[in-house]
Amino acid sequence: MTIDGKLLEVPVGTSVMHAAALAGINIPKLCATDSLEAFGSCRLCLVDIEGRRGHPASCTTLVEEGMVVQTENDTLHKLRRNVMELYISDHPLDCLTCPANGNCELQDMAGVVGLRSVRYGFDGANHLDDTTDNSNPYFAYDSSKCIVCNRCVRACEEVQGTFALTIDKRGFESRVTAGQNDGFLGSDCVSCGACVQACPTSSLMEKSVIDLGQPEHAVITTCAYCGVGCGFKAEMKGDKVIRMTPWKDGKANRGHACVKGRFAWGYATHQDRILNPMIRKSITDPWQEVSWDEAINYAASEFRRIQDQHGRDAVGGITSSRCTNEETYLVQKLVRAAFGTNNVDTCARVCHSPTGYGLKMTLGESAGTQTFDSVMHTDVVIVMGANPSAAHPVFASRLKRRLRQGARLIVIDPRQTELVSSPHIQADYHLPLRPGTNTAMLTAMAHVIVAENLVNETYVAERCDTAAFNEWRSFVSQPQNSPEVMAEICGVSADDIRGAARLYATGGNGSIYYGLGVTEHSQGSTTVMAIANLAMATGNVGREGVGVNPLRGQNNVQGSCDMGSFPHEFPGYRHVSDNQVRSLFEQAWGVPLQSEPGLRIPNMFDAALSGSFKGLYCQGEDIVQSDPNTQHVAAAMAAMECVVVQDLFLNETAKYAHVFLPGSSFLEKDGTFTNAERRISRVRKVMEPKAGMADWEVTCALARALGYPMSYEHPSQIMDEIARLTPTFTGVSYERIQELGGSVQWPCNEQAPEGTPTMHIDEFVRGKGRFMLTQYVPTEERSSRKFPLLLTTGRILSQYNVGAQTRRTDNVAWHAEDLLEIHPVDAEDRGIRSGDKVSVKSRAGETALRATVTERVQPGVVYTTFHFPESGANVVTTNNSDWATNCPEYKVTAVQIQRVTSESAWQNRWNRFHDIQQRLLQGETLSAEDLAHADHNHQHEPAEAVAKV
Ligand code: SF4
Ligand code: SF4
Ligand code: SF4
Ligand code: FES
Repeated sequence: MTIDGKLLEVPVGTSVMHAAALAGINIPKLCATDSLEAFGSCRLCLVDIEGRRGHPASCTTLVEEGMVVQTENDTLHKLRRNVMELYISDHPLDCLTCPANGNCELQDMAGVVGLRSVRYGFDGANHLDDTTDNSNPYFAYDSSKCIVCNRCVRACEEVQGTFALTIDKRGFESRVTAGQNDGFLGSDCVSCGACVQACPTSSLMEKSVIDLGQPEHAVITTCAYCGVGCGFKAEMKGDKVIRMTPWKDGKANRGHACVKGRFAWGYATHQDRILNPMIRKSITDPWQEVSWDEAINYAASEFRRIQDQHGRDAVGGITSSRCTNEETYLVQKLVRAAFGTNNVDTCARVCHSPTGYGLKMTLGESAGTQTFDSVMHTDVVIVMGANPSAAHPVFASRLKRRLRQGARLIVIDPRQTELVSSPHIQADYHLPLRPGTNTAMLTAMAHVIVAENLVNETYVAERCDTAAFNEWRSFVSQPQNSPEVMAEICGVSADDIRGAARLYATGGNGSIYYGLGVTEHSQGSTTVMAIANLAMATGNVGREGVGVNPLRGQNNVQGSCDMGSFPHEFPGYRHVSDNQVRSLFEQAWGVPLQSEPGLRIPNMFDAALSGSFKGLYCQGEDIVQSDPNTQHVAAAMAAMECVVVQDLFLNETAKYAHVFLPGSSFLEKDGTFTNAERRISRVRKVMEPKAGMADWEVTCALARALGYPMSYEHPSQIMDEIARLTPTFTGVSYERIQELGGSVQWPCNEQAPEGTPTMHIDEFVRGKGRFMLTQYVPTEERSSRKFPLLLTTGRILSQYNVGAQTRRTDNVAWHAEDLLEIHPVDAEDRGIRSGDKVSVKSRAGETALRATVTERVQPGVVYTTFHFPESGANVVTTNNSDWATNCPEYKVTAVQIQRVTSESAWQNRWNRFHDIQQRLLQGETLSAEDLAHADHNHQHEPAEAVAKV
């Protein structure tokens, strides 16, 4: 084709506008952007095409072979200027005071087409007095500035998949409307900001830009919330963040974001931040602000005192999945090398430790197999125990796009998540199984696949361990694993189980995405292995569009596991008992290391209560709020002699601390995060650490005070050390990440210098894939006459985990308290209506919440989130845990729900726990009897009362 005399060749399907851009010619445009489908409404991009009548829009006209296009001539120029003149005749001329001034496409286009005056005046009908919708806390919609280009509507549909916006009415009356004219906050809008980013004027505009003006410079970094790991441009004015704009070249997010990453960063500068180190001799004393040196020396001397008095293993540390790889690596190094013990664990213990175990046993590597992009090649998706629309929203948007293109969907979840039925999406199967029956469900699906000869025999013969497969085949074939038998246990019809199994096995590329609804069970590891079994049996591992994909909760869960945070493993998942590996680390770190695994978090608590564990260094995790059976955790914390908490805020755990070391937010440090795709992305400092030291510097100082030399000039040197010592990271460095476009997926080494987007391509990491037997064992946690309902927990989009960050942002506009979801039948039995205050009582404890009556949950199941410390959701969760990894069974707690009738009962709703907590915080040593109800013990109930779930 020829454009303005330039000959060029472009692929079939290219638009004339895009072809022109490839030739270096920018055709004026308003309604088109490179991230949305062409729409053809503004008529600014008109061109002349030889042999065609009129002036077609270049954004919607596709190139044909031999096409001759002219993008500029007098007629086109005049037409475009006339179009702009009409737009401007209904647009406020307040450019100098407009927040988009200097960054407005309408303004730019007026300049490009040479508009100098408007002939029509402003006397006729116009929209200049339209009102502004300020309901969304983060952005405003000023209708008077709207040119009805439809970009926001299309962004909401195509990019986000929420369909919250429409253009209401026709012609001159056309206006952007959220929901049924509910305003943005009252509509289905999830505040992802895609529409704001798409708007070419200041009609949709961030309030931070309206308040503070346009940013001056930008730094590329990575979101510190969830395991999607979105790349962002932190747009700055001096050292102030003006807005976070999703980075178009970010490979995890491709220019999209959610309400948390894009808008909820205000916690980083919140007044609650603690910026001075503090110490106190006892948790009953007031805090005393001290210098960094004093705090660090005090902590070090206490740890050494404890070790001298109670032995080397009386202390330990907890790393955080909120922190960078480099920081996590240093904490485990400090524990192993400076403390001289393997008592190190991570918050991943309470979320995805079964993923590490289950995938290592079956496939040979403790990580997901794909990129997020891979979902665009899938044909059938199983989403199990995960609610990506709330917890991994940017991935959910990509998945929904694929589903709208026709991919089939199976949701396995006790609750009707948004994905089951949302605009233009309807799951083919929703299997609302009873909480705690995941393994039974997957084993029944495997039964169908084997019984109906749907196994991919060639794949299994070539790639998997034959003996293990044969054993598995006969195990799943047993009649007790048939859908008909398992249907009774799972509470889902056998037909649906059969239908879902057939669809997954025969529907083309099959992929499985799962979350904490799989792992946080007493059979979490077994279910992960059952997932891997299904994928191997159907040949769905080792290429694009398939795979086994754990949706990691926090930003750096994958990284904290990779970095050797578990008590039995060095970085790179190598066992501490491996002499060769240990001597490698001993040489590098210059000290002898222990060959026995150390304590896991729950073992640390038990040891603290029995008096053998006395000191803890806890970086960036609020274990008192996030770990199950709060009374038990609180008692363990109160029993210790030196608890060092390093965090942004005085969290629940800090109530039991003797030393508080101020933490630094992701905006204040350099480093890397590793997301759920194994993608290592750079985190970059955009402002100096508010308390004077970044977290990695604090850990180094603490190690030095303990007498162990630990010094780095920059986190890049820490990564260089990690790379030297970890085979899957040998090719990783900050320079290499930069060269590869900002991120790289491990393994990245000599065999894979560009990283590894898809794992297990020709063979599994462990050689032959190993099928594992997945015998269903019911959890000990049963419903009974006394506790007839099953409580399961999850997350909500606007809040994040224990809420330490999001509760300190305007995200509370969407979710200001945790609510208890209860089915209408169960609600009616108890006389409960939406908004009522209800008590939630389990064998472990009692709390109270407001109820919301909904069919999202099935009869017999209640659900809540755990974002607010006041709710104390973990006061009721039990000590049950995964048999292999001790990951707590957050997802199944038998409870009774009752309406709280008196105001005083509501006011005193946390008394039972708070009484215990107050006594602990006042230094009282509680008797075993006092804490008895903290331990989950079925024997408290007569055996006959334990009914079948
Ligand atoms: S913020 Fe996101 S969800 Fe809300 S209207 Fe805009 S694009 Fe749609
Ligand atoms: S709000 Fe912005 S993006 Fe939406 S139609 Fe109006 S001008 Fe276009
Ligand atoms: S999807 Fe996750 S990583 Fe992306 S912006 Fe939201 S919270 Fe951040
Ligand atoms: S950019 Fe082509 S019609 Fe608007």
